[in-house]
Amino acid sequence: MNSLKRIPVLAANWKMYKTVGETREFLHVFLPMVDKLSEREVIIAPPFTALSAASEILKESELVTLAAQNMYFEQKGGFTGEISSIMLKELGIKWVILGHSERRHIFGEKNSLIALKVKSALENDLLPILCIGEKLEEREGGLMHEILERQLSAGFSEVSSAEADKVVVAYEPVWAIGTGRTATPDQAQDAHIHIRSWLTGLFDSDIAGQIRILYGGSVKPENINELMALPDVDGALVGGASLKPESFSQIVSCRTS
Ligand code: PGA
Repeated sequence: MNSLKRIPVLAANWKMYKTVGETREFLHVFLPMVDKLSEREVIIAPPFTALSAASEILKESELVTLAAQNMYFEQKGGFTGEISSIMLKELGIKWVILGHSERRHIFGEKNSLIALKVKSALENDLLPILCIGEKLEEREGGLMHEILERQLSAGFSEVSSAEADKVVVAYEPVWAIGTGRTATPDQAQDAHIHIRSWLTGLFDSDIAGQIRILYGGSVKPENINELMALPDVDGALVGGASLKPESFSQIVSCRTS
């Protein structure tokens, strides 16, 4: 497998936190803290309302790009409350988080809907961050691998081998999100290996070796280096610890090799 090409990704998922003013404040403190960093991609996903202001501030940044936290798969139409890929593209957004466990479990998003969103994102030149992960009872019931495979199989159902490396997978065990309970290195590596071998079966080992697999769930400055040292962990998707410039800058400054 060619792991040399996998540039690490450190992504902030701000969820429903930060107004436009708070987003500006964060970026003005955060950007000077990370301006010497290279050899990694840093992504921030603020709420929709702050994307435009953030995009304006980040237009000169070579390090930091923006993600939306969700989108609908249609381009326009009678879909009250939804946002489309063309609206995101207009703001210079590069990425879109799809299938986050809060979308799946609070808002009832099904694998079939997430599959349509991944397809639509790629068709419209947005790079999907496809989130997958098992609940605690699924892990304890021995269903983890099956759940991950079902989520991957839907998420990649419309992805061609030519486009596969545009998708970033985020493995986020639901029991680790916002709980302070991070997966152990063994648990993370085990899930990531399983994901990569599933991708090898779907595509081939070269392609699977190029797809970045992020870990998410209670990532903090104290555990990022241990996670990044795992051979199949190519970055992190960070919620709570991404809300303060000090802690997110420590996370993005992690050791990357
Ligand atoms: P957390 O959230 O880092 O606060 O656990 C991660 C996520 O939901 O993406």
